[in-house]
Amino acid sequence: MSSRRSFLSKSALMAASAFSANSLFNLLHAQSFADAQRLLNSRVPDAENEAYWATVQDSYTANKGDVIILNNGGVSPQPLSVQKALDVYNAQASQGPSFYMWRIMDKGREPLRQQLAALAGADPEEIAINRNATEALNTVIFGLPLQRGDEVIGTVQDYPNMINAWKQRQLREGIHYKQLSFDFPSEDEDAIVKAFSDAITPQTKLLHITHLINWVGQIMPVRKLADMAHSRGIEVLVDGAHSFGLLDFKIPDLHCDYFGTSLHKFLSAPVGSGLLWIKKIRSPTFGRFCVTTSHAVAISANLKHWVPAALPLSRPLARR
Ligand SMILES: Cc1ncc(COP(=O)(O)O)c(C=O)c1O
Repeated sequence: MSSRRSFLSKSALMAASAFSANSLFNLLHAQSFADAQRLLNSRVPDAENEAYWATVQDSYTANKGDVIILNNGGVSPQPLSVQKALDVYNAQASQGPSFYMWRIMDKGREPLRQQLAALAGADPEEIAINRNATEALNTVIFGLPLQRGDEVIGTVQDYPNMINAWKQRQLREGIHYKQLSFDFPSEDEDAIVKAFSDAITPQTKLLHITHLINWVGQIMPVRKLADMAHSRGIEVLVDGAHSFGLLDFKIPDLHCDYFGTSLHKFLSAPVGSGLLWIKKIRSPTFGRFCVTTSHAVAISANLKHWVPAALPLSRPLARR
């Protein structure tokens, strides 16, 4: 009996150590991670470099059939390494969710937060891992302590989910949600900043800025807008759904207060992964938001292993 007990506890310890630190997936796929990274590092990511793009193409199984899918932005196809990771951890979790998900896989949470923080140029403490940009932005939209009459300024070109969220607060709580309309695309950053600046009133508490506007590819001058807003005591929420993993920037360099994104777009992480960044030092509202997690949802419990599978392939392309 005692040998059976010691066998069981030894097996549990072995399983735990296999998953700890950088996760079982890293151990299993260390070689393919290293190969992919080496190949990409040795190739210049410019539009003309066929060898570079061949490496990227080989990493994906998408579009091998007759259908050519042009919308890979809303949700990106997953590279083979991510698909494999999903299979590995789904199978593992199904063998005993309460053990593998709660006790073992949970150990990957902090290493993932640190990797994402490094990619974002942020403090891991400022990052919450969640299901998508919508969840991240709604956490802020519905969590900000606004009073009746307080004003938020966005644009008609923002994403409909966010527009509707602000309209809900307007209907329920009597905040004032004002929308500007631009003739995009535009390279006149000063005109964009001026339009926001002119719209500000003493009631304005927040600017809602979409970093990369999905309809037309417009890149908003977030840093200039944030500096202008801060000079007038106004906070800035950035919808980075399409910029994170595509444009070359670090979140703190945008000078905004809140930033939400999906990881399943340009980072090619599994469907149902995102992050919220909240500037720790500056925001007086830090800590007020309801950021929850549930052991019962397998997909979120396992994200910490699947998302790292996407990181070696991540390479922001645009310099801006
Ligand atoms: C600008 C923008 N914001 C937010 C979202 C919402 O992203 P998700 O559905 O991944 O939460 C999208 C979706 O494509 C988008 O284009």
